[in-house]
Amino acid sequence: MERTVGQITLFGLLLALASTLPNKDDWDVYSFHINSTVTSRYATTVITSRVANRMDESKEIEFHVRIPKNAFISKFRMFIDAQVYDGVVRAKEQAQQQYTEAVSRGESAGLVSSVGRTLEEFKTSVTVAAHKKVTFELTYEELMKRTHGKYELQIHARPMQPVSDFKVDVHIHEEAGISFIDVKGGLSTKALANAITKTHIDKEAWVYFYPTVDQQKMCDSCSDQGMNGDLVIVYDVNRDNGLGHIKKSDGYFVHHFAPSDLPRIPKNVVFVIDQSGSMRGRKILQTRIALFHILNDLAEDDYFGLITFDGNIFHWKRELVQANSKNLESAKNFASNIQARGSTDINEAVLQGARMLNDHSREGSASILILLTDGDPTSGVTNLENIQSNVRQAIAGKFPLYCLGFGFDVDFKFLEKMSLQNNGVARRIYEDSDADLQLKGFYEEVATPLLTDVTMIYVGGTNLTQTNFSQYYNGSEIVVAGEITDNNIETFTPQVVAISSNRRIIFSNPNETVESTGTVSDDRIQRVWAYLTVKQLLDKELQLSGPEKEKVKKEALELSLKYSFVTPLTSMVVTKPPGENIDVLHKPKEGETSQRWQSQGGQSILVPLPPAIGHGINGALSAADFDPSFSRQSLSPSSHLSGHSSVMQEHASRVERGRPGPVFQLHPLRGERGQRGDLAPVVLPDVQPAVVHLSRKTTTLEATDAPVLHRFLLKAANQTVPLCFDVSGPVRLKLFHHPSRELSVNGELDSVTNGGFSRIFIHVKDSQHVEIDTNWVTVRDGQTVTYYTGQDHLTAGSVTVIVRNNEIDVATGDMQMVIIVHEKNGQKLFWPVLRQHPSDNNAEGLLAVEAAVYEEVQQAPVRKLKIKNQEADVTGEMVVDYSFASPVTMNCWLMSADSALQRPLSQFVITQL
Ligand SMILES: *[C@@H]1O[C@H](CO)[C@@H](O)[C@H](O)[C@H]1NC(C)=O
Ligand SMILES: *[C@@H]1O[C@H](CO)[C@@H](O)[C@H](O)[C@H]1NC(C)=O
Ligand SMILES: *[C@@H]1O[C@H](CO)[C@@H](O)[C@H](O)[C@H]1NC(C)=O
Ligand SMILES: *[C@@H]1O[C@H](CO)[C@@H](O)[C@H](O)[C@H]1NC(C)=O
Ligand SMILES: *[C@@H]1O[C@H](CO)[C@@H](O)[C@H](O)[C@H]1NC(C)=O
Ligand SMILES: *[C@@H]1O[C@H](CO)[C@@H](O)[C@H](O)[C@H]1NC(C)=O
Repeated sequence: MERTVGQITLFGLLLALASTLPNKDDWDVYSFHINSTVTSRYATTVITSRVANRMDESKEIEFHVRIPKNAFISKFRMFIDAQVYDGVVRAKEQAQQQYTEAVSRGESAGLVSSVGRTLEEFKTSVTVAAHKKVTFELTYEELMKRTHGKYELQIHARPMQPVSDFKVDVHIHEEAGISFIDVKGGLSTKALANAITKTHIDKEAWVYFYPTVDQQKMCDSCSDQGMNGDLVIVYDVNRDNGLGHIKKSDGYFVHHFAPSDLPRIPKNVVFVIDQSGSMRGRKILQTRIALFHILNDLAEDDYFGLITFDGNIFHWKRELVQANSKNLESAKNFASNIQARGSTDINEAVLQGARMLNDHSREGSASILILLTDGDPTSGVTNLENIQSNVRQAIAGKFPLYCLGFGFDVDFKFLEKMSLQNNGVARRIYEDSDADLQLKGFYEEVATPLLTDVTMIYVGGTNLTQTNFSQYYNGSEIVVAGEITDNNIETFTPQVVAISSNRRIIFSNPNETVESTGTVSDDRIQRVWAYLTVKQLLDKELQLSGPEKEKVKKEALELSLKYSFVTPLTSMVVTKPPGENIDVLHKPKEGETSQRWQSQGGQSILVPLPPAIGHGINGALSAADFDPSFSRQSLSPSSHLSGHSSVMQEHASRVERGRPGPVFQLHPLRGERGQRGDLAPVVLPDVQPAVVHLSRKTTTLEATDAPVLHRFLLKAANQTVPLCFDVSGPVRLKLFHHPSRELSVNGELDSVTNGGFSRIFIHVKDSQHVEIDTNWVTVRDGQTVTYYTGQDHLTAGSVTVIVRNNEIDVATGDMQMVIIVHEKNGQKLFWPVLRQHPSDNNAEGLLAVEAAVYEEVQQAPVRKLKIKNQEADVTGEMVVDYSFASPVTMNCWLMSADSALQRPLSQFVITQL
């Protein structure tokens, strides 16, 4: 079979990025401006990038920026040679059709967008003739959401080069007056402090960020590629504690309601916590930590309940109890003993939680049900619709249900729908070192109910967004927008009716002068209305089915098109000079894997790419030293250098004999470096039977002749500090051998870069082999050899291999292993983690070593530990636990491998992979 390796379009853009970035002479971003204007908490941001092709030949030039997830892109244009190319927002299907036509005309296309924790990516490119220039201009809009008593405007700056004319301008105008304004984020550091100017006068505030070229290379998250980080503008407005602020313009109004001088309402809260097996490890640990904090924050007149569940339901107490110190102590004790095991019965758990709240109706209080889960229902009722209908019946609109989805193995859509059906919201908790803070942060948003049964009434208003809210919490805000009937201000009367403890309160202000933007025509209030309406219609659509769903969808689509919003229902078709690829951009749904439309034989197909965020056990969110994006690359050096995306990605799995086919490769997405300064050392290993983790030494070995050391981490069974030991050089090690399964996993330590394996081979029954090295993932089944070239998965007999974003999952029988792919100095390193042990545990190898049991026997002059009956000298060292995609730094006791393992290391050394 011919090696048609040139066929790759899918990653053309990434290639362009990778190949052009280091070479600054190629093209020059000579100006990069971000201009954000905020009024009435509605932010319109324009990113303008001006680029010159300094080459003597035409060049593909890329525009690649990140915008907040909550925002809708509303405009994109390119100026080339006095020509303007405007992007057009189309219904998704229509865009696809247009795209298909483009393909049949022989043009190819790439769709560009992906997801991070708070950001989405926008990418496109255009070919620019020699010594010509291009200007890219992207506009996006978002309504700021008030949480914890503040708004946050996130601006991501990544021009991809140091830029001589680099500017971020933020202008905020709030009629109510700005109470405070702060500049935070990774770019707000000492090195850049004098580049930031902040001015605040009553209703107006300006933030200017004008770093010099030198400063753009100096800051924490910056490099030769220039800046890469966030500026976060934090502010709040003055509150009058009455009806709030109403702004109108051009026949539309927006009402911000956020009184804060009300007494808190005592609450009844039930926490329903998933303790199924998949929560094992860091997740359950972080959940316990978060629960401790949350329990500490409960007020004495709050009542609470705690349920944990796997396949069974465990009540701490069958009824709600008062949050007095005795009950809290006992609950904390219960919480600290939560262990992960078993399956997931979400249905019964939530029904039990609802029952507890229903049994405890208390006048003048606010009830809240919070579910934390990390997976799909696997026992009891597992049909999602049945669960939703059961839960809806049990709650019957009486209190909100908040669902927290931990990690990426949850069916987030299911949680979202269930929350929305019960007046709540769903939130994703990202698996990372700050997951406990995310949990706590969410709880704090709902910790102080001030009002219940809030009804917003607008006589003389029409086409209103949501007007009924079951609860209002301190620090948040209720926003309603609508049309003013016949634009008649005289008859327009807003009013809010709500319950505060046992009192009914009416907020109205007959003398309220509804503030108007005056004679200047300003469609911004109308856009706020449109933005909010589309968001709410999309939520509603999720809850409905059948013709009702279609109706709502149609409405949302029409509005998206009218206001030119790129929403999940629309796409932006990027038009370009004739003869060039057409890019189609669409907005990914929360947690959805990004997709590109690619063409094959004239047909267009949707191919999911690995998610931008890690999946499953490594979960960890972006940001780290490692590549959050993953791509495969052609062998063809010409395509690598030119970055031209004119050929197509081959999709079908390639089955070949003999010589290898295309390579898969990981590209560094230009340094997210430095954003992890908050990475807290974790010294609380979960008490688990599991085992050895590999770890890289934190101390860098600069000298070239120093041996390459790989530091291994051995968890301790009942101590907080784990053990560690070093193994040097390119040794081959037995990782996991399971004789009765005829399964063996071996690895070869890297010889150049410390911190992991460069090759891992897996053998099953002599005939099935998976070989993973830094260039190839190869699967052999008997005589058949298959290389990974982008297919969903590879199989060989009972072995399944899934290549994801930054991990490779290998499963056979009841053994599941994750090989986490880290990247260091452009070099890939592998990290094996056993996710699931085979049930009969007679395995050997490093990954099967039991957690250490040790005690400290001496501290000075030399620290000594006693393991089994042997004493060993140790020193306190640091290691980085690379069994997470976002590595965790911790302390460890360093000793010889032989002492830590309680047998000679040579027993683990093998000669053949
Ligand atoms: C930023 O945008 C606003 C509104 O479009 C405009 O009035 C202002 O001049 C722009 N500022 C800069 C520095 O471009
Ligand atoms: C609500 O928040 C405001 C501002 O943070 C604070 O002053 C007030 O005390 C809070 N109210 C309650 C009841 O906690
Ligand atoms: C607004 O409401 C009126 C009726 O009150 C309706 O005719 C009109 O279509 C609505 N406009 C939008 C944009 O929904
Ligand atoms: C909002 O609440 C009011 C009073 O509780 C009720 O009469 C009205 O039907 C509700 N509206 C909606 C859209 O649920
Ligand atoms: C509203 O106006 C009336 C008369 O114009 C005045 O008596 C009353 O005090 C005003 N109320 C408020 C809340 O300002
Ligand atoms: C650790 O566990 C072992 C066995 O369960 C026990 O003998 C030992 O005392 C424990 N050590 C500590 C420090 O808790």
